[in-house]
Amino acid sequence: MDAKTELCCLIGRPVEHSLSPLIHNTLAQRMGINMAYTTFCVEDADVAEAVKGAYALGVRGMNVTVPHKRAVMECLTDIDPLAAKIGAVNTLVRAEGGFKGYNTDITGLDRELREAGIEIGGRSVIILGAGGASRAIAYLCADRGADRIWLLNRTAERAKELAGEVNSHFGDVVVPMSLKDYSEIPVGKYPVIQTTSAGLYPDTDGLPIEDDAFYELVSAGVDIIFNPPVTGFMKKCAEHNAPAYNGLKMLLYQGIAAFELWYGVTVERTLADEVLSLMEKAL
Ligand code: ATR
Repeated sequence: MDAKTELCCLIGRPVEHSLSPLIHNTLAQRMGINMAYTTFCVEDADVAEAVKGAYALGVRGMNVTVPHKRAVMECLTDIDPLAAKIGAVNTLVRAEGGFKGYNTDITGLDRELREAGIEIGGRSVIILGAGGASRAIAYLCADRGADRIWLLNRTAERAKELAGEVNSHFGDVVVPMSLKDYSEIPVGKYPVIQTTSAGLYPDTDGLPIEDDAFYELVSAGVDIIFNPPVTGFMKKCAEHNAPAYNGLKMLLYQGIAAFELWYGVTVERTLADEVLSLMEKAL
């Protein structure tokens, strides 16, 4: 670092286990960009001041993690339309008079799906869970032209609420149901995105759905969990001959998408793969 080093950072609470510094500091170093990236633990009441202060200090870009992804929207000069619809922002890009907000969690997943050859447009997909992550993913799938989204949640009421919201923007594309009603889905093969916390460390034996019959419906499985690196859901998909992916690439690509927005560069696949293997080692 020297007098010309630019700063980018993450705000959230907690932030001390974040892999974002590893992602961004590696990208900056490999691409010859004089930037340092660190994290700040920020209390709910201090989000607006933190963003204002960062802008005053000339911070080039910020990431925002839980619990501030919604609250930070109040502190921006502009918001990308898809991020505005989703109602969550995780990346701030310095602009005239303030920061513009984006949701690169979603562009990250989009890139992961494309690289894995998982088609969404014109296809039916299954999403497990109806929390914050599911919400953004349901918007992504609807925005990418999914023909039908089967949204399954333990608490059916929450699935219904989310479906109503997404459908108010995109027409009747999301069909909400309870996790246990999966047998109502027409027999076929579907990409399945697993967003529940079932299987997340330390509950590593957890499964969103136990029944083998469900996994017969899976053409490819994407779990947003990356700890453990192979979840029970992924094992079940593999047992039923479906390729399965964990959430580490989604995390990597949300970082890469943010970095590309901050610096107007394109991160090549070889560099992305190098960062991914560093992340795997760091876990
Ligand atoms: P996130 O922001 O990561 O999506 P969240 O908003 O807390 O986290 O949502 C967690 C999701 O995991 C919810 O869909 C939750 O289901 P409920 O709405 O019924 O609570 C789901 N979930 C958590 N533990 C689960 C379990 N053991 N089996 C199935 N679903 C589970």
